[in-house]
Amino acid sequence: MHTRKKITVVGAGNVGATAAHWLAAKELGDVVLVDIIEGVPQGKALDLAEAAPVEGFDVRLTGANSYEETADSDVVIITAGLARKPGMSRDDLLKTNADIVGKVVDECVKRSPNSILIIVSNPLDAMCQVALRRSGFPKHRVIGMAGVLDSARMRCFLAEALDVSVENVTAFVLGGHGDTMVPLPRYSTCAGIPITELLSKDQIDAIVKRTAGGGAEIVSLLKTGSAYYAPSAAAVEMTESILKDKKKILPCAAYLEGEYGVNGLYVGVPCKLGGKGLEQVIEITLTAEERIALHKSAAAVQELVNVLGI
Ligand code: NAI
Ligand code: 2OP
Repeated sequence: MHTRKKITVVGAGNVGATAAHWLAAKELGDVVLVDIIEGVPQGKALDLAEAAPVEGFDVRLTGANSYEETADSDVVIITAGLARKPGMSRDDLLKTNADIVGKVVDECVKRSPNSILIIVSNPLDAMCQVALRRSGFPKHRVIGMAGVLDSARMRCFLAEALDVSVENVTAFVLGGHGDTMVPLPRYSTCAGIPITELLSKDQIDAIVKRTAGGGAEIVSLLKTGSAYYAPSAAAVEMTESILKDKKKILPCAAYLEGEYGVNGLYVGVPCKLGGKGLEQVIEITLTAEERIALHKSAAAVQELVNVLGI
């Protein structure tokens, strides 16, 4: 009889498999890895299980091409999807991934009706909207991962510029996960000191720009894929805050109903994540300029949602 928490990770590609690695290493619960490619989730789960004696983690790792093993998961992380291929428009990718995420959600919620869904598949904010509609779950149990990644990138660049521990640096990035994201230097600090006191405007502008292009920077280096260490670590931080009821305030894609003047749409905002999932959207005061940038970002998400007609 297992009393450990259970986490399903759908998509055993770069992000999914690396998430399984962090989850197991942190002993957050038993992990079920699901993918459509025969043998891959089974092989990666077995390989990770064989690392357990060396690393000393006691969790069960299972790989599968179907969903029976996922039953009664506490958290489901969805990373299934395709990357854009030559000749494929943004809208083609949008529809293909919406179809994949929709089907994955159907399978998961049937077997884990009380789970909390963490969406990772891109385009992130639109995929969250698909998952919310298809699951029929309340909005506090369908949350998107993007802001933790985007702000981790900003923290990494800030710590480097300040030559301080990454642990000293906090950063906030709001908005949709795309070119229109809104990094907020005013709310970014080093040991509690606003970074605007420590760095020049030019230095901050350069970091803000690099943060917004952070995903593309990795793609241009890797060439055959996109980032996965930081994205998976980010999804696992969210999972940990939920499973341990830590109530961390993290920037996440949340379904807004009036907050920040946005209605009926997923956008990245500061969220409290605890045992119930998204327990609170924190509303902070924005300057007129920041508010305009957030609404511009929301409009970009709305465009994708309109294409899907959801
Ligand atoms: P990947 O190509 O390495 O892995 C995707 C996996 O999904 C593949 O193994 C594929 O077989 C599987 N898959 C496809 N259709 C499936 C289905 N119907 N059921 C189950 N599995 C299925 O890609 P990677 O790098 O792991 O990225 C995954 C997704 O996450 C992409 O959409 C990517 O754009 C997105 N992403 C989002 C981030 C964010 O900040 N929200 C950050 C990084 C990646
Ligand atoms: C990233 O930001 C691809 O969305 C992914 O790295």
